[in-house]
Amino acid sequence: MRVLLTGGAGFIGSHTAIVLIEHGHHVVVLDDLSNASEEAVRRASRLAGVDIPLAVGDAGDRELVGRTIAEHGIEAVIHFAGRKAVGESVAKPLEYYRVNLGSAIATLEAMAEHGVTRFVFSSSATVYEQPGELLAESAPVGIDLPNPYGRTKAMIEAIVADASTADPSLQAAVLRYFNPVGAHASGEIGEDPKGIPNNLMPFVAQVAAGVRERLRIFGDDYNTHDGTGVRDYIHVLDLAEGHVAALEKLEPGVLTVNLGTGAGGSVFDVLHAFEATVGRELPHEVVARRPGDAAVSTANPALAHERLDWRTTRTLADAVRDTWRWQERNPRGYAG
Ligand code: UD1
Repeated sequence: MRVLLTGGAGFIGSHTAIVLIEHGHHVVVLDDLSNASEEAVRRASRLAGVDIPLAVGDAGDRELVGRTIAEHGIEAVIHFAGRKAVGESVAKPLEYYRVNLGSAIATLEAMAEHGVTRFVFSSSATVYEQPGELLAESAPVGIDLPNPYGRTKAMIEAIVADASTADPSLQAAVLRYFNPVGAHASGEIGEDPKGIPNNLMPFVAQVAAGVRERLRIFGDDYNTHDGTGVRDYIHVLDLAEGHVAALEKLEPGVLTVNLGTGAGGSVFDVLHAFEATVGRELPHEVVARRPGDAAVSTANPALAHERLDWRTTRTLADAVRDTWRWQERNPRGYAG
């Protein structure tokens, strides 16, 4: 299939591009490079052994998306494009609504104009109103969420559902990611956060690299096995394979599935896995809880197993090793 990846120069998109090509698909990337790098696409091309065309521009520009679809004979779209920083979404809600909703709507409109019916959307476990253990897709989703970022994801899920009702030829998959981590095993591509990382894994990687002084652990008094927050960390290549499976299994209507491992890792589990990989202790201190954080968030991945015939195969230790390889080889990310 000829597949357009909006936001395909980013962390998850660049890994998915490689895995799609490995499965015999053709990939085109559309990315405005506002939080991504052209170098990621160059390296993904090298790793995949084919040239990945990159159109630089905004997925909120319907004309541009339409032109890109027409020019490359696109048959399916995986929509990764969007803003993703929770804290920033609280400070800049209108930007988040404009960019995230605008790009999803423009992309769906451009697809409809060009007769493209296959759509895969990057949603998030953040849409669940009550985070918890082994969440199933039937758990309540709504806009009563702690931040605008999460609300944009829930709203786009509703937009996709409405678009599907209006146009029964639409074949959509909504993928609710848990916590994507890790990097390509080559160490050539990985997560390249701008500024101070908000998320745990890139932060620990920078502590290990000496870029940050110490990890601050946001609370150790949660009701979990060691008191720290528990998440479902999924290796980005397992996640990428989930996209390929979803794409290949599309049928009319909307299939909404969790992409997670079903296993939970705590902050200490991540820290200790990193310490085992680098062979030394990493400086850390326990501080107050981060507002809005849940004690536990893990996926029930049964539906994805059943409907996509997909399973994760990589462990947290694999993700930590791959993250560290990427971090060590690219201390300043794609900048060098
Ligand atoms: C966060 C976002 C979520 C988003 C996801 C993936 C919040 C409230 N949620 O999820 O919407 O979909 O990232 O990008 O921001 N931790 C520390 N110290 C740190 C960083 C994190 O102790 O410096 C802890 C957190 O308290 C949490 C765990 O590590 O228990 C994971 O945090 P993080 O990587 O930010 O992911 P989430 O909070 O699950």
